[in-house]
Amino acid sequence: MTVYRRSLRGPAAMLTLGAAAIHLSAAPDHLTEYAPFGVLFIAVGLAQAVLGPAAWLRPSRRVFAASVLIAFGCLVVWTISRTAGLPFGPSPGRPEAAGFPDLVTTVFEVTSIPLFLTLIVRGPRQAPDRRYGWLGGMVPLAVLLTLLTFLGVMTGLNPLPFAVNMGTAAPGPGVTPLQTLTEPPGDEPVKAFTLTAEVSQQAGHEVWTYNGTVPGPELRVTQGDRVRVTLINHLPAATSIHWHGLRLPNAEDGVAGLTQQALAPGQTYTYEFVVKDPGTYWYHSHQDTEHQVPKGLYGALVVLPRRGPTYDRDYAVAVGDLNGSDAGDRIGANGVLGDLHLAAHPGEMVRLRLIDAIQGDMSGFPELLTLLGTAYRVIALDGHDLIGPADLGPELLPIGIGQRYDLAFRMPAGSQVKLVDNRARQGSQHARRWTVTLGEGATPPTVPVQTRFDLTTYGTAAPDEVALHQTFDVSRDLVVTNQHGFRYGSEQFLHMFNGRTFPDTQPIIVREGQFVRLRFVNDTDEYHPIHLHGHVYSVISKNGRRISGSPVHLDSILVGPHETWEGAFLADNPGLWMLHCHVLVHAAFGLSTMVSYEGVSTPYSIGSRSGNFPE
Ligand code: C2O
Ligand code: CU
Ligand code: CU
Repeated sequence: MTVYRRSLRGPAAMLTLGAAAIHLSAAPDHLTEYAPFGVLFIAVGLAQAVLGPAAWLRPSRRVFAASVLIAFGCLVVWTISRTAGLPFGPSPGRPEAAGFPDLVTTVFEVTSIPLFLTLIVRGPRQAPDRRYGWLGGMVPLAVLLTLLTFLGVMTGLNPLPFAVNMGTAAPGPGVTPLQTLTEPPGDEPVKAFTLTAEVSQQAGHEVWTYNGTVPGPELRVTQGDRVRVTLINHLPAATSIHWHGLRLPNAEDGVAGLTQQALAPGQTYTYEFVVKDPGTYWYHSHQDTEHQVPKGLYGALVVLPRRGPTYDRDYAVAVGDLNGSDAGDRIGANGVLGDLHLAAHPGEMVRLRLIDAIQGDMSGFPELLTLLGTAYRVIALDGHDLIGPADLGPELLPIGIGQRYDLAFRMPAGSQVKLVDNRARQGSQHARRWTVTLGEGATPPTVPVQTRFDLTTYGTAAPDEVALHQTFDVSRDLVVTNQHGFRYGSEQFLHMFNGRTFPDTQPIIVREGQFVRLRFVNDTDEYHPIHLHGHVYSVISKNGRRISGSPVHLDSILVGPHETWEGAFLADNPGLWMLHCHVLVHAAFGLSTMVSYEGVSTPYSIGSRSGNFPE
């Protein structure tokens, strides 16, 4: 009896079947993107699904030849689409990025071709005596190919989104186009800035900068100013600027794919808004945020009050990633890796505005700031003043990523004041070496600090219209969980609100004038500073207990492992607003949703067609 060699047609059949499965898994996405491609994927997938088993069960030269032709055709089309770009389709002439599923399919097809060709050339042979000898080699190969096929299918079923429009309505009568939600003209004093985003070198490493420095220049304005910022993009990638914590018109929010098209290289874009609230804020890129912020695209934004106490010294300190640093410790204060020294004289009143602009690791663990050498008060959180702040001794001030703490203190006579980050001693992998010292004289001794500052009991209680509201028009629970899974064409450590990842999370739909209550339930061992754009939360409770100190107004609520926090806000700023964890890697793994006003359309979309990826 003559047969085609099993040791060749076995693997060839498995490779063809694997390619079939991956082609079919990717077909639904291609159908929505460009129907003819979807049909092609189904046709190729079905043909391979027949030819693969046929190569094993009914081997013939015709079957082998058909398999080679299809594999070869796929390879040609794939190579063109990933290099020059196909001349037709959803984006003609634009090369696509290679992804995991198509790489696996390509490897399968490349490998199958020589096997089929050998079978065709050699033809059937006399069956060997040892009839099952081929099995030994086939089993490990089958395991490997099954695993690769599974990964290819799962990533193929969960691709990068093609184009997702986050509007709550299609443009039409009675619908507000987001682009019209701009700052109305007025005669406020104008503060104009130009920020050029560009690639720079720092200590021999590449960094992405605004005006050549990490962090970017501190923008200091006064409440009521009309701020005009021109962004010039000299980066090799599209970018944007988001004004973290500011309540501004939606069209100025700087979120790629929601409130604007990401600014392409070489282009210029102008943001304009009137600053309503005094306080400490910051700005950062909101396109590919996960990568662009740690590369250096962030800076401090200080809004001085029109009236109010003045300080002899008023410093903003942005703590963030400096890619130019040596491996190990990459965190610095205002761009300084070691000690940042600030001038201050004995007896002077100092306001220290601390901004956590760190990228963060998977734990989301907050920095634990500790001020040594003087009594101090926490006068504001996330830019918003606290009522009746009491003097504090050395405490651990837990500052989540994106959050701000404003400290006020009087400089002592003859010694320094020192700020250290105690995170290293509290269970984090990365040591923190940055410190801030103020004034001259003896450095205060490092003392062991146990007490953790508790914002739920600090300061003096006072009525807060939003937090004490009796009935809320909208109440939502957002349960945070994580698990491994497939998303955006790869395997990810998914981070979810109510079991879903962005952009498939359920938006919180509101109308202007509604009181909204959100309950964040953290079902993970990580920290999640959950940030809301364009609004300010009034904190209601932590773990079911109402806060008993000063009213607390935040744009990011730090929800610790297995904690529950409630916050509320008044929906008074129409638009489409992101609500996401500010641990950038968590947001990039899906922990993001929206607060969306009814009847708002946006011309922008998120996904591979537009190139807008706000995470
Ligand atoms: Cu600080 Cu959505 O951002
Ligand atoms: Cu923000
Ligand atoms: Cu998080």
